[in-house]
Amino acid sequence: MSNYKLKIAIAGATGYVGLDLVNLLSKHPKIKLVNLCATKNLGKQIHIFDKRLKKTLPKISRLNQVKWNEIDLLFLSLPNGAAHNIIKKLYYKYSHLKFIDLSADFRIKNHLIYKRYYKKKHNAKNLINNSLYSIAELKKKIITNYRIISNPGCYPTSIQLALYPLIKKKLIKFDDIIIDSKSGYSGAGKNYKKKFKYKNFGSATFAYSPMSHRHTAEMDQEFKKISKKIKFVFNPHLVPTFRGILSSIYIHKKKGITIYKIVDALKKFYSRDKFIKILKQNTHLGTGNVLNTNNCEISVCNTRYENKLVIFSAIDNLVKGAAGQAVQNMNLMFKLKETLGLK
Ligand SMILES: NC(=O)c1ccc[n+]([C@@H]2O[C@H](COP(=O)([O-])OP(=O)(O)OC[C@H]3O[C@@H](n4cnc5c(N)ncnc54)[C@H](OP(=O)(O)O)[C@@H]3O)[C@@H](O)[C@H]2O)c1
Repeated sequence: MSNYKLKIAIAGATGYVGLDLVNLLSKHPKIKLVNLCATKNLGKQIHIFDKRLKKTLPKISRLNQVKWNEIDLLFLSLPNGAAHNIIKKLYYKYSHLKFIDLSADFRIKNHLIYKRYYKKKHNAKNLINNSLYSIAELKKKIITNYRIISNPGCYPTSIQLALYPLIKKKLIKFDDIIIDSKSGYSGAGKNYKKKFKYKNFGSATFAYSPMSHRHTAEMDQEFKKISKKIKFVFNPHLVPTFRGILSSIYIHKKKGITIYKIVDALKKFYSRDKFIKILKQNTHLGTGNVLNTNNCEISVCNTRYENKLVIFSAIDNLVKGAAGQAVQNMNLMFKLKETLGLK
């Protein structure tokens, strides 16, 4: 494997996530970008969409032009509902081929819940159990067993990284978790103006979907693997900035547990994870440090009530929340150094 370069195709290369993927992969020492696919702008150079990109990259092409025998890995960065149909066609025919899907198509194990949240019928139900939902820090030991990796949602990445160790170690009350997340508008993709028709979009802040945001489905699923008793309220907001997510997570610590114990538990859990930075307790936190990085910064702070703490978790939605984590998953999947192309 030492001099070999993985041959990569990207479906959805011209979207916000796709362009970040192209940017990261074009600098990755063990990668050759072979096909950059979309449905529009065929034959055009990709750098016209993003000044960071080199002029020498492949031109935009259709997915049906890809020579699959020559590709090792397909990243799918498409709107929800497209990847399951594409993977279904390729999975059995090309047994060498691996997939990293950045949409929600393989995140939800129960296809009925997928249909309820995403309003789409799943056409590759048999493949859902062959896929792995992978927050990279949490799935390192088993990721090489899978050909389909489901990259988690951006909000759930910021939230689960902060909460998973504390739930696992039973340091907090399970039925009293309130999550207030703020995201830049790139989270809605390049057609954000069609998706959100709010007045003064781009200069104002909006709360949306407090009842049933789609990302609650994958968080419910993953938390319930640890305990069926977990209850959380999740309220996302759009803020007038392009990229970045800040999740403020209000928790009730268990009796006798100190803030130091909570910070210590997080530090120990992530002691070998280069991208997770656990800050000193009571450090104020924003997205500034994490933009354009694959890092997640986490800070635990006291509130005016002894038992209540707030945990701040900051990521870049397009990097650790999407393209960066997908590259990290790829590195793990192909037994490359986890941080390669990401530092
Ligand atoms: N934005 C985020 O922060 C974020 C974070 C985590 C996960 N995700 C997920 O990642 C995926 C991509 O998100 P995004 O924000 O990059 O979306 P986007 O900006 O809307 O880009 C979508 C891309 O898919 C292509 N495309 C659309 N329909 C297609 C089809 N039927 N066949 C092939 N290509 C098609 C588009 O190209 P054309 O315009 O040429 O059709 C474009 O390149 C979504 O599933 C999203 O939920 C996004």
